[in-house]
Amino acid sequence: MNVFKLEEYLTKYEFSSQYLLCCSDAESFKMSTIIEMATAEEHKMWDNLSLQYTEPYGHPLLRQKISELYPGLSYENILCFAGAEEGIFCALSCLIQKNDHVITLTPCYQSLLEIPKSKSADVTEIELQEENNWQIDLDLIRKAIKPNTKCIVINFPHNPTGQIIEENQLKSLIELCEHHDIWLFSDEVYRLLGPSKNEGTTPAACLWSKGLSLGVMSKSFGMPGLRIGWIACQNKTMLHQMKLMKDYLSICNSAPSEILSLIALTHREEILKRNNKIVSDNLKILDQFFLEYHHLFEWVRPKGGCVGFVKYKSPESVDSFCDRLLKKKNVLLLPASVYDYHGNHFRIGFGRKNMPECLDRLKEFLND
Ligand SMILES: Cc1ncc(COP(=O)(O)O)c(C=O)c1O
Repeated sequence: MNVFKLEEYLTKYEFSSQYLLCCSDAESFKMSTIIEMATAEEHKMWDNLSLQYTEPYGHPLLRQKISELYPGLSYENILCFAGAEEGIFCALSCLIQKNDHVITLTPCYQSLLEIPKSKSADVTEIELQEENNWQIDLDLIRKAIKPNTKCIVINFPHNPTGQIIEENQLKSLIELCEHHDIWLFSDEVYRLLGPSKNEGTTPAACLWSKGLSLGVMSKSFGMPGLRIGWIACQNKTMLHQMKLMKDYLSICNSAPSEILSLIALTHREEILKRNNKIVSDNLKILDQFFLEYHHLFEWVRPKGGCVGFVKYKSPESVDSFCDRLLKKKNVLLLPASVYDYHGNHFRIGFGRKNMPECLDRLKEFLND
């Protein structure tokens, strides 16, 4: 498997840089804050928690709580994973065999592309276009379908552009999948986060029996350290196949993380309200910034999630720009090269409380 460029870049710089301006997760919480939120019953579960193995599918109460995010589905339609990443690995490894055809939208979080490639699948990459506001192009997908197309992989709200899929676009895509009997793997890790909350888009798993919806505590809820993710799917045989693969990976989830996730999801309205407020406030500041520096940057305002993809309009390469910024001001951006994207873009993150401070450092750098 090829090196996961984005994760390798973050391994190198994330924990040594002072100003993280490219984060893809919302502001986090202290563990004590989550425990304070607990109901009496949840407090009891936390205090009496035994650190033994947990149920391979995930704690039944946690699965029940997660299923509330998927209208029409029950806890039996949920399989928990160690983060979203394990879910991507298990789902795409189970679904895709050698010589299957897969359609993936790019630029993308690398595992969405890399795992199908590692299975020696025939992969068609459909590049989202900035001129089209990074929107999904259903005609291109329709034309790319082959008799052996097994799966279409999407991610909305999208990393790195922050574009969303509209309900009518999703429904048309699912009609295509139904017509050609294609699985739809839908990475929805940024669902419920963003300026418009994007509550409108129904999870793919609720709309299509061969739809898999990927969710996680990491992004919208701001709790990546829990390493709790999940896949919702109507097809229980598929869920079982992924469980069989999980048996070779994490086996089961961390017991404390399960209870903390359960508490957080019970109080999700409060958590999402805080995180969405940070995102909206930061976006207003970014609007002003990009207006002021329009000669240097061009961006399409994100509609969901907490990242955006900004074009650097200078003749200088964006890699060199990011490198100079990091060395001089200790501010971390993500250059497009970590996505294997050819444009002179970088990813900016606006889910964290200290984004205005990071942006001030970027301004200082530009004005020096
Ligand atoms: C689109 C997308 N999917 C999956 C993941 C993996 O999430 P996790 O860290 O929770 O495993 C990420 C993380 O950046 C992501 O951006």
